[in-house]
Amino acid sequence: MGRDVIIACDFPSAEKTLSFLDRFTGRKPFVKIGMELFYAEGPAVVRAIKERGHRIFLDLKLHDIPNTVKRAMAVLSSLDVDIVNCHASGTVRMMEAAREGLTRPDGTRPLLIAVTQLTSTDQETMESDLWIREPIGEVVMHYAENARRAGLDGVVCSPLEAGAVHERCGADFLTVTPGVRFADGEIGDQKRVMTPAEAKRIGSDYIVVGRPITAAEDPVAAYERCMEEFVG
Ligand code: C5P
Repeated sequence: MGRDVIIACDFPSAEKTLSFLDRFTGRKPFVKIGMELFYAEGPAVVRAIKERGHRIFLDLKLHDIPNTVKRAMAVLSSLDVDIVNCHASGTVRMMEAAREGLTRPDGTRPLLIAVTQLTSTDQETMESDLWIREPIGEVVMHYAENARRAGLDGVVCSPLEAGAVHERCGADFLTVTPGVRFADGEIGDQKRVMTPAEAKRIGSDYIVVGRPITAAEDPVAAYERCMEEFVG
């Protein structure tokens, strides 16, 4: 899989999601399904979107004891999604268990990536709530290296960190980056953003784009613009 744009389908129901995807009559976008939609609609919505020919990043951010994560990942693997994720803070052993659970009897499996520190966590809350006192940039890199040691394929990170992650973990270690905005678009609640063209320059492998596409007047045109800037 090469560089691609993943649309964050942050909709509350299958009906809204499928009618949004109906607009894409040409190229079938890679879509991200998060907790809201999955908890509302369950595996059926994943199967419905897959049947329409989309690739899927199932963003459920698993974090539990290794055995539980392993068994849950085996269930997700049977849904035939393309990318799934877990929290790197669950430890190297948990990430290894996640990878084992995802691996099918024939040795194939979806790509598995780790969340390092959530972008909603800053230095101050990391120190006060989590009692982690290292600089947050170093914590992110340490977690990325743990993910690589556990045999994962990459991490979710800010596009601003993608270059450093590749330097530390290798060019083929995937960086999947949200926080993307068009140069002339609204930023919304994202704090540190980059355009698709900048994300491409810095070496992101996948960009996750939500509202700049889902809330656009013409989502198909916005998606094609994103593809043009990031891939084309
Ligand atoms: O609408 P927007 O482009 O901001 O959507 C970005 C998507 O990426 C959302 O689904 C959001 O939950 C997700 N995300 C993020 N920052 C992270 C991890 C995930 O924005 N650090």
